[in-house]
Amino acid sequence: MGKRILSAFAGLAAGAALFAGGAHAEESVEVLHWWTAGGEAAALNVLKDQLEEQGVTWQDMPVAGGSGVQAMTVLRSRVTSGNAPTAVQMLGYDIQDWANEGVLADLSDLAAKEKWDDVVPKALQRFAKNSDGQWIAAPVNVHSTNWMWANKKIFDEVGVEGEVKDWDELIAVLDKIKEAGYTPIAYGGQPWQDATVFEAVVLSTGGPEFYKKALNDFDPEALGSDTMKTAFDRMSKLHEYVDPNFSGRDWNLATAMVINGKAAVQFMGDWAKGEFLRADLKPGEDFVCQRFPGTQGTVLFNSDQFVMFQVGEDKRDAQIKLASAVMSPTFQIAFNKVKGSVPARTDVPGDELDACGQKGMKELAAANESNQLFGSLAHGYGAPSAVKNAVFDVVTAHFNGEYTSDEAVKALVEAVSAAQ
Ligand code: BGC
Repeated sequence: MGKRILSAFAGLAAGAALFAGGAHAEESVEVLHWWTAGGEAAALNVLKDQLEEQGVTWQDMPVAGGSGVQAMTVLRSRVTSGNAPTAVQMLGYDIQDWANEGVLADLSDLAAKEKWDDVVPKALQRFAKNSDGQWIAAPVNVHSTNWMWANKKIFDEVGVEGEVKDWDELIAVLDKIKEAGYTPIAYGGQPWQDATVFEAVVLSTGGPEFYKKALNDFDPEALGSDTMKTAFDRMSKLHEYVDPNFSGRDWNLATAMVINGKAAVQFMGDWAKGEFLRADLKPGEDFVCQRFPGTQGTVLFNSDQFVMFQVGEDKRDAQIKLASAVMSPTFQIAFNKVKGSVPARTDVPGDELDACGQKGMKELAAANESNQLFGSLAHGYGAPSAVKNAVFDVVTAHFNGEYTSDEAVKALVEAVSAAQ
């Protein structure tokens, strides 16, 4: 009885505090994101926990669909109906598109206080600030797309030793794997995944300058070149090594095929590593990470950024807490260890990351130094979404046999020009 009176009294007191002191106990952030795979959700929990420790409640708004295609559609309808979330996971050019609509919050005071200018890589700042130089997003990580993930047991069984250096070696390895009775490539047939593989193939086929000309600058000559035709031919070649059920498969289910030893390799960004880690596998022992053969030395990057929308005064404090938490060095390490990416700050040590993460971090710094760091087209850092989607359409139609390579090259030139 006494206890009940006491707790009723405590409830009253808490209510009074709320009334007198503003919305402190009620602080919350609503966050729209597409991190629904196991490794992704685990990484996001690091952020949720950190905010909850600061008394900020997390209202989760997950929209499944790799690379955020569906999430961006949902976002559009939320903003149109005047109900923008506090923060949204977003990529590159999409951030700039939203900035141009004048609906984003300014984080510049926080950024100045925490010296983001000095620690966030310049390649990311370009996207995290609007045209007036105001900070509108907090970058969580740097991912890279030109990776190959392999099942170590299968590689050992067919005698792969060391790195698979180039395209010819890759084909030789895939043939051996096929002969041994495995599905060589774990493949998810969705447009963004086709494009993720395609950009690595373009880079491997034409080299870094060609990649930049074709998939960052959209030079019509590069797009319509023989080199591009070879890249499409190579996509057709890869098609010979996928299983019959590839169509529509989610990326994490493809990763699971490599984890379970059903397939040997997956060509995918380093978010795939989050799935291997979550399955308790060790890099170098159970799985292999290496650059897509023939792309060593070059890094195709993308970065998940939390874009802040204009919210009412009552939500502003929590929004700033979220942005500050995202940028804190301890969070950047804890999160990226789980996510598979590397920190979006140049001043944090990499020694807590696994071997693949440390390799990724070194390669990112070196590629930045030598100007071999380019935006991933498939993940929003090569072009605004109209052009990106035009490329997706052609690449997917070709991969599914609707175009010959010659037709695909022509269609690519036309589709890009129409979308520009
Ligand atoms: C994002 C990653 C995400 C992946 C799969 C990429 O565009 O940058 O964070 O894990 O898509 O959804």
